[in-house]
Amino acid sequence: MSKTIMISGASSGIGRTTAEYFQAKGWNVVATMRAPEKETELTELENVLVTRLDVQDSASIEDAVTAGIARFGKIDVLLNNAGYGAYGLLEATPNEKIRWQFDVNVIGLFATTRAVLRSQLFRSRRTSFKGDASGARPVGDPPAVARSAPRAACSHTPAVLSK
Ligand SMILES: NC(=O)c1ccc[n+]([C@@H]2O[C@H](COP(=O)([O-])OP(=O)(O)OC[C@H]3O[C@@H](n4cnc5c(N)ncnc54)[C@H](OP(=O)(O)O)[C@@H]3O)[C@@H](O)[C@H]2O)c1
Repeated sequence: MSKTIMISGASSGIGRTTAEYFQAKGWNVVATMRAPEKETELTELENVLVTRLDVQDSASIEDAVTAGIARFGKIDVLLNNAGYGAYGLLEATPNEKIRWQFDVNVIGLFATTRAVLRSQLFRSRRTSFKGDASGARPVGDPPAVARSAPRAACSHTPAVLSK
């Protein structure tokens, strides 16, 4: 039986490329995005379910997990890819911008992971977390201060969940 990967932020970039890669390797793909109605290519691929998921919208997360399991029976791997980088010197960055960054890149990651873990059919507990450049450059430059902090906040999560 094919394995299933669920990807957040599959509308562009790494998320989209990963969706195409796994589909080509024969996996089932739950390609989630904020505006699935705009997607025209992934929807044409076999064994790809394109569905809505906004990591700031709990109901959309639950609905996407439910839809993925209804279509493919289980979710083996979750790729928490959705996110963005807020840039700017700290002196010029208001708390609202920092909160928004944490809400999407940290709370969104936990919310999506929790929903998948809660689904009774999530058997393997193998959770893939977003790839980023922090390994190559663990300390960002000053304008990356707001986007660097979420990386640190989530850095232990894969190890904790894999125990
Ligand atoms: N590329 C790099 O060098 C690099 C380095 C470090 C970290 N990263 C991280 O890796 C991830 C992918 O990067 P990328 O370069 O592929 O960027 P990207 O093309 O901008 O992709 C980001 C994706 O996240 C989605 N997204 C943003 N906010 C969301 C939300 N609230 N709910 C659901 N989806 C949301 C975007 O959806 P919309 O299309 O709806 O906006 C988009 O699909 C990001 O988390 C980024 O921070 C990338």
